[in-house]
Amino acid sequence: MFKHEIIEKNATLLLVGSLFVVSIGGIIEIAPLFYLETTIEKVEGMRPYTPLELKGREIYMREGCYNCHSQMIRPLRDEVERYGHYSLAAESMFDHPFQWGSKRTGPDLARVGGRYSDEWQVDHLKDPKALVPETVMPKYGFLSATNLNYTLIEDTLKTNRIVGVPYTDAQIANAKQDLETQATLDGDELDGFEARYQKASARDFDGNPNAITEMDALVAYLQMLGTLVDFDLYDASANRR
Ligand code: HEC
Repeated sequence: MFKHEIIEKNATLLLVGSLFVVSIGGIIEIAPLFYLETTIEKVEGMRPYTPLELKGREIYMREGCYNCHSQMIRPLRDEVERYGHYSLAAESMFDHPFQWGSKRTGPDLARVGGRYSDEWQVDHLKDPKALVPETVMPKYGFLSATNLNYTLIEDTLKTNRIVGVPYTDAQIANAKQDLETQATLDGDELDGFEARYQKASARDFDGNPNAITEMDALVAYLQMLGTLVDFDLYDASANRR
């Protein structure tokens, strides 16, 4: 009847037994990871960052924006109502490193793309207090006065490809030109750029047509955040297995 008495009175046996039971759960969770090619479901619309967005992302990291801003909307009602559809794994699949963040001194930025005009973004970055008097966000006006250094952009794309971002040879070969096209709206080259990066928009992001600045890159990045997946078409249940 009470055979478990044997286990309960023998600490070593109890330990071995516990480890055995726990490891069953572990194996069930871990084993599939060895034969699954990816744990991220493919989602329509996701594409690698354009060279300009990638540079903007570098500035975002360099300036430590992640210290105050997350990029990860949790599937909780208050967050979804405030920020939009909860973040999908696929939406950060090209992020190396990811920018989920762990602190929200300011709002989540996962879907800030398109929420404000370029002009608002530039004004806000230059002097946040001018637009939101109670904010604690610092000023980043120097970004407008700093020319963007993109001499190594081809290598940046290549490095991203090494860690799994599917940049094509054409995207790498045209990296510099695509960056300039997106920031200056150079009509001749626009067709090639738009074909290489779906849903990417080219314009003068910082309002200064004479230079490609760090502000151009950062605003280009902010304006595309969370805009790639069309949630009118996305069906979460279709991905469930
Ligand atoms: C010290 C914390 C802090 C840092 C660092 C910071 N921010 Fe903010 N940010 C805030 C706060 C607080 C707000 C909300 C009030 C406001 O709009 O200024 C905000 C608001 C924003 C908004 C508007 C979001 C919305 O949905 O209204 C954007 C965009 C933004 N920040 C971008 C950035 C970027 C880009 C950087 C880095 C260059 C950055 N922030 C650095 C605190 C910070």
